[in-house]
Amino acid sequence: QVWGEPPARHYHALYLALLAARGQKPTSIRKGAMSVVTVATKPFADQKPGTSGLRKKVPVFQQPHYVENFIQSIFDSLEDYAGTSLVVGGDGRYYNREVVQTVIRMAAANGFGRVLVGRGGLLSTPAASCVIRGREAFGGIILSASHNPGGPDGDFGIKYNIGNGGPAPEKITDAIFERTKTISEYRTLDLSNVDLDRLGAIEIGGMAVEVIDPVADYQALMASLFDFTAIRAMFASGFTMRFDAMHAVTGPYARAILEEELGAPAGTVVNGTPLPDFGGHHPDPNLVHAKELYDLMMSDAAPDFGAASDGDGDRNLIIGRGVFVTPSDSLAILAANAHLAPGYRQGLKGIARSMPTSGAADRVAAKLGVACYETPTGWKFFGNLLDAGLATICGEESAGTGSDHVREKDGLWAVLLWLNVLAARKQPVLEIVREHWATYGRNYYSRHDYEEVDAKAANGLMDHLRARLDSLPGTRLPAGTVQAADDFAYSDPVDGSVSANQGLRVLFTDGSRIVLRISGTGTAGATLRLYLERYEPDPARHGQDTQAALADLVETADRLAELKARTGRQAPTVIT
Ligand code: G1P
Ligand code: ZN
Repeated sequence: QVWGEPPARHYHALYLALLAARGQKPTSIRKGAMSVVTVATKPFADQKPGTSGLRKKVPVFQQPHYVENFIQSIFDSLEDYAGTSLVVGGDGRYYNREVVQTVIRMAAANGFGRVLVGRGGLLSTPAASCVIRGREAFGGIILSASHNPGGPDGDFGIKYNIGNGGPAPEKITDAIFERTKTISEYRTLDLSNVDLDRLGAIEIGGMAVEVIDPVADYQALMASLFDFTAIRAMFASGFTMRFDAMHAVTGPYARAILEEELGAPAGTVVNGTPLPDFGGHHPDPNLVHAKELYDLMMSDAAPDFGAASDGDGDRNLIIGRGVFVTPSDSLAILAANAHLAPGYRQGLKGIARSMPTSGAADRVAAKLGVACYETPTGWKFFGNLLDAGLATICGEESAGTGSDHVREKDGLWAVLLWLNVLAARKQPVLEIVREHWATYGRNYYSRHDYEEVDAKAANGLMDHLRARLDSLPGTRLPAGTVQAADDFAYSDPVDGSVSANQGLRVLFTDGSRIVLRISGTGTAGATLRLYLERYEPDPARHGQDTQAALADLVETADRLAELKARTGRQAPTVIT
């Protein structure tokens, strides 16, 4: 089998040798018309990667040379990749196919030995991470703007992942940005488009292009982690579920795994066909954009379990019949129950959460006797902890949960772990959540987003609060007495790198918190995120409405940061 068992490096030479031994020749397309061309270009000033790669509106990416400059800057920031494999795929949004073709041409012209691309140019973010790791690729380019809307006027994004399958660390993204400032030429092939819809391999310009099934590698990995037999039995006994793929990339994955492999009835997966504009919706699995699912789950017609994923498949939304599980609670509950799944039977090495994520997971870690790491926002900070074996499960309040099985957060993984827990415990979600709170206490938690705020006003607000931080400890405010206040900085325990200015924190003596930061993924103006958390140990007080339980923290935040006055907004744009 020509394409099985890929030895990662110098793959192409092996491929050619194998064909030669069989007396075969590699298939080439447009022979003789594939000379490398060097194209002169000028730098763009706005190619700084953010929390998760370079994100801009589609028309920005459509400027001549814009994509090419960034791709060449990525390649120029890497070392010793000649002859190795590169994985390419995206969430199927508008412009995905065009950029996949550009990446293939440029990878060939820059000396990669092989490109692995998902059929149709599709790969969910966790599946891309899985393929990079499983096939020992040098790295991968993921085309996505995650949960942001798509279409000709929507968002697009390009992100580079390294050989461990995770987002490039800041050292590399900084180097890429530096390169974009001085780039003067890029290399590409004079070649028409590759057929992305047919599985198999072809050769272009001395490089192999293999179009792979985007689901298969990922599906096999999931089967190795979870008790599929128990989940299949649960569906067979009448367990009901709805999975909303939001017309984004997880449709094919969810259909193959939930419906075909695990026997959930046809129709369990809704909005399962990926569309370039996500059907005109935000593929963001929160209570605003997945409202239909939420309403169903709160109604009498609710199935046992509801879930959704985002544009590129790395986020998850978990709703039981009559209960929304906050991502922070979901992380804690999954960590406390992970041993019920075969892949985690040995227990957890540690737990990691981003700083704004609630402290619910910390309490589970304490009980398990393992460390809990607090990292800045963004999945890239978990990579070192997972690689070093310091943490097994990690998560963010922004609907991201994952483990050391890949180096990205993984929406469907979280859904499958929940299904595994439900199959093992044979209890409704609501009961599991209540028991968890009774054991560990409840962390009331909410995030208030102020979107597309004037960037100057947002920065002014942050500067104003930052300047007051030192004076706050000891102050009595409506939400309580301030114990500490700081601008969060993280020192990576593995490589010692320090990331400063990661969000302003006001911590109260009773464990409540207010956190404020500016989003690093927005594409218009500034998005201010206000995170609110209150810990309640008393089970008799676990039935409160979340916003009511946090009202004094909201008032305090406004008093401290002058939110209303400085943003000109009376209320947040989105509450999650
Ligand atoms: C947001 C989330 C963050 C997540 C990132 C990428 O970043 O808050 O947790 O890692 O998207 O999905 P932000 O816009 O807050 O910088
Ligand atoms: Zn995403």
